[in-house]
Amino acid sequence: MSCSTVTVGLGTQSYQVTIGAGALQADIPWMTSALAGRRCIPIIDETVFALHGETVLRRFSDGGILLDRPVLVPSGERAKDFAEFGRLLDQVLSRGIDRRTVLIAIGGGVTGDLVGFAAATLLRGIDFIQIPTTLLAQIDSSVGGKTGINTAFGKNLVGAFHQPIRVCCDIGFLDTLSPRDLRAGYAEMVKYGLIDDPDFFDWLEKNGPALLAGNADLRADAIHHCVAAKARVVAADEKETGPRALLNLGHTFGHALEAEAGYTGTLLHGEAVAIGTIMAFDLSVRLGLCPAADAVRIRQHFLATDLPVDAKSFGFDPARLLAHMGKDKKAVGGTLVLILARGIGGCFIARDVAADDVLAVVQAG
Ligand code: GLY
Repeated sequence: MSCSTVTVGLGTQSYQVTIGAGALQADIPWMTSALAGRRCIPIIDETVFALHGETVLRRFSDGGILLDRPVLVPSGERAKDFAEFGRLLDQVLSRGIDRRTVLIAIGGGVTGDLVGFAAATLLRGIDFIQIPTTLLAQIDSSVGGKTGINTAFGKNLVGAFHQPIRVCCDIGFLDTLSPRDLRAGYAEMVKYGLIDDPDFFDWLEKNGPALLAGNADLRADAIHHCVAAKARVVAADEKETGPRALLNLGHTFGHALEAEAGYTGTLLHGEAVAIGTIMAFDLSVRLGLCPAADAVRIRQHFLATDLPVDAKSFGFDPARLLAHMGKDKKAVGGTLVLILARGIGGCFIARDVAADDVLAVVQAG
């Protein structure tokens, strides 16, 4: 299978995303030239290192690229905190870096966000490469330059926009991903259809189960489709002053659920986004904006792909969830900014949603 490419067009900060089986091998010639004479530090999720470390490092050495000894970071959302960030900075600084040093993030969204934020801040900004190994990171978090860590006050509240110089989405990594992690990433894939691409949602209803079951052609096509959509949005609105906010569909609810769950793995990010997406559509129905049948269709698709659709079973306190939502960085002047929908493929940014309506949906969900 040959690889496809997408360019994220950001002027002098533009970069290529390579997608497919063997994408890492396909990217080695570019890396050989881009990394020549520079200190390159691979920073690898410890689970990914156990599964793929040797193979990945051999690809680089076979291409004549001399990498530093890898730095390992813990798996899971809990690793995205100040303590881990500090440990990572110390380890990288202890290697004696300079402004030409390149960090290579190899792992899921947590690793990418953590390493990207380290790259954004070390020496006031050095280059980094994303080699995402989860579906969620390949279709969303590795592209677009959002980096950051969580705090006790909420998710991603400390961070920076800092674009990678390359993203390499090798779908071979997905073969060792747990079905649960794969489904969690799939929830973010569905998001692209729901925002403004109803044909893609139709396609996922038809092909999603086979894609999740392992069909490599479907995976490569769908990942390319999502990355291309994301690249268009990021090129139009890098710093999220406008339409990029649509990519946060389900995230304000989802981040509150994750904060309540305590980043323990009880609820993965993509699972929280799935429940949050259902809540966003339920709220849209409640406000008379969206046909109820569309919300039912999404719920049915999530159930068919084994994604969670309600928060009830987790026993969260609705008032606490609402309080978390008020701290979300998308809240402006105490008013919640939410992504609502006029139907599947018809999402928009709503700035004036009454807290009572949000609470009613959270209580019901
Ligand atoms: N994950 C949403 C964004 O990158 O804007």
